[in-house]
Amino acid sequence: MNTTHAGQALIFDSGVGGLSVAAEIRKRLPNLQMSYAADDIFRPYGAKTEAQLKARLPRLLWELTETVQPDLVVIACNTASTTALSDIRAALDIPVIGVVPAIKPAAAASRTKTIAVLGTPGTVERRYVDDLINDFASDCRVILQGSVNLVDIAEKKLAGEPVDLDWVRTEISPMFNGRNGADIDAVVLACTHFPLLREELKASVTQSVQWIDSGDAIARRVETVLKGVSLKQPQDRPDTALLVGPETSPARIKTFNDFGFERVVALMG
Ligand code: DGL
Repeated sequence: MNTTHAGQALIFDSGVGGLSVAAEIRKRLPNLQMSYAADDIFRPYGAKTEAQLKARLPRLLWELTETVQPDLVVIACNTASTTALSDIRAALDIPVIGVVPAIKPAAAASRTKTIAVLGTPGTVERRYVDDLINDFASDCRVILQGSVNLVDIAEKKLAGEPVDLDWVRTEISPMFNGRNGADIDAVVLACTHFPLLREELKASVTQSVQWIDSGDAIARRVETVLKGVSLKQPQDRPDTALLVGPETSPARIKTFNDFGFERVVALMG
């Protein structure tokens, strides 16, 4: 990678979930120029088939990288990463970092050796997740819980709407009330939207649980890949969010601004 221009990362997700990752990257690399793309028009990814995501994502990411010209792409979405990461990598000629659900640290942190993986329905049924469980959590009981609605609840929260804790409880109570649920002491947040609901999740359960996500691990990986690249943010190029879809609300624009994306642009999908 050359050292003569300022490095730039493109963060990608179906919606606002990748902002939980962007925040960790900013914490570690405050001077890195970042762009963000949200595939609003095709969300929720968790309800899409593998074939649909594999057909859409390589081309979409190619188009976005042609527009943004980043040095690397972060697929800040577990559903896309566990489904189409190798297809996306094959379509691009720059480094692509994906999200790996934090099953290994959760298994290591658990004392009861009972953990849960809370992701989208797509993610929790992927072979990729089974392989991670076999490789890193074979000494644990692992409860899988899929939710599409939590994605929508996180989108609402970041669009400035109130969140009713009962909605959150309804989504997560099956895993705590089911077999071995009372023993769960670590939950993998295997969807990047879910760390945005950390406070609501904590407030919705009575047992003591660690909620573990992959944001910091991704930020460390970005730092490694960009080693040697200048990270001086150009004054004349504000961090920009591209929303794939026809429109966006003022409250949502404010959310992106609050996360440091000063320009928010709607792109027709
Ligand atoms: N944020 C995404 C993830 O990490 C998916 C949300 C969706 O279902 O679109 O899986």
